[in-house]
Amino acid sequence: MTYRATWRAARAAPLPTRLEAPLPRSRYDPEDATESFAKRKDRRRPHGRVRASSLFEGTASVPGMAWLRKQGIVTGVDAELRSGKEATIYVGRGPAGTLALKVYRDRSVRSFKADGRYEAGRFEDGGATRAIAAAGARGRRAQTARWALHEYRTLWRLHRAGVPVPEPLVGPGTRLLARSGDVVVMRYLGDDDGPAPRLADAALSGADAEWAFARSVEHLATLWRLGVVHGDYSTYNLLWWQGEVVVIDVPQAIPRHHAEAKTLLRRDATNLCDTFAALGVEADADTVFSEVEAAAPAPPDEASAG
Ligand SMILES: Nc1ncnc2c1ncn2[C@@H]1O[C@H](COP(=O)(O)OP(=O)(O)O)[C@@H](O)[C@H]1O
Ligand SMILES: [Mg+2]
Repeated sequence: MTYRATWRAARAAPLPTRLEAPLPRSRYDPEDATESFAKRKDRRRPHGRVRASSLFEGTASVPGMAWLRKQGIVTGVDAELRSGKEATIYVGRGPAGTLALKVYRDRSVRSFKADGRYEAGRFEDGGATRAIAAAGARGRRAQTARWALHEYRTLWRLHRAGVPVPEPLVGPGTRLLARSGDVVVMRYLGDDDGPAPRLADAALSGADAEWAFARSVEHLATLWRLGVVHGDYSTYNLLWWQGEVVVIDVPQAIPRHHAEAKTLLRRDATNLCDTFAALGVEADADTVFSEVEAAAPAPPDEASAG
C-alpha cells in the first residue's frame, strides 16, 4: 500500500481503537534506554554532564536548577535517562508528576548540526535575549539558555495547537522560561516499565508502522501549517506512546518564513522516509514533501508577500 492510501486510511480510522492497543515492546529494551545511573557512572563523563543526585542537590552548577527547586517545580531528580551530544535527559519528580528534565550542556561542547547555518533569523525576538540577560546569563551561558528557551517556546506552541508533544511545565511567559536556564522541564512519557520508545526502537508491526508513518507525515504537515519546521525530524525524535506518535527534540526548529525553511523541510521529509525504511515502510520523500506543502498552503500574508 502506498503511504498516500495509508495516510487517508489513517485519517479516516478512529483513533481511540489505537489508544487501547498494547504497546509493542519486543524490540524495545528499557534497560538499554534507561541505562542505569550505576552503569553509566564508570564511563567517562563528557564535560558538562552531571550526575542525577548532584543535579538536584545543587553541587553541580546547572543554571536554572536552583530556581526550579525553589519554585517547587522540581522536587527530586532520580535518574539519568539518556545522554546525547547536546543534552542529557533526567527523570525527576514534581507536583505535575514524573518529569523529564532536558539539561543542555555548555555550548562549547555542543554541536548542533544546523547551528551556524540556520541561526540567523531563528532567535529574532529581542524579548527572549533581554529576558535571558535579566535572568543573569552571560556569554556562552546565554547561548545555551537560548536553545532551552527556544525549545520551550516551540513546545508551548505545538502543545497549545494540539500536536502531541511532551507538555512543557514552565512558562509560557518568556521571563519564566529564561529563569529555567539550561533546563527544559516537561512531562515524562513512560511508565514503570521504562520510557516511551522512540519509533526507531519500537517494534512496530507492518500495519502499525504504516499508521505511525502516516501520522508522522500528518504531524510534519501540521507543524508546517503552524509555521514551524522541525529541523531534525526522524524516527529518532518521534516517540511511540499509547498508540500515538509524539514529537520531541525541537530546539533547532525554525520559522516557516526563514530563508532555509523549505530546504530543511525537504531534509526532514527525506530523513523521515529514510529512517522509516528500517521499519519496513516504503515511502518517497518528494511525495511526502509535496503532500506536506499541499496539505498546508501558505497563510494569506505569506501568499501575498510572494
Ligand atoms: N518527555 C520525555 N519522556 C520520555 N523520554 C524522553 C522525553 N524527552 C526525551 N526523552 C528521551 O530522551 C532522548 C533524548 O531527548 P532529545 O530531546 O531527543 O535530545 P537529544 O538532543 O539528546 O537528541 C529521546 O530520544 C528520548 O528517548
Ligand atoms: Mg533527539
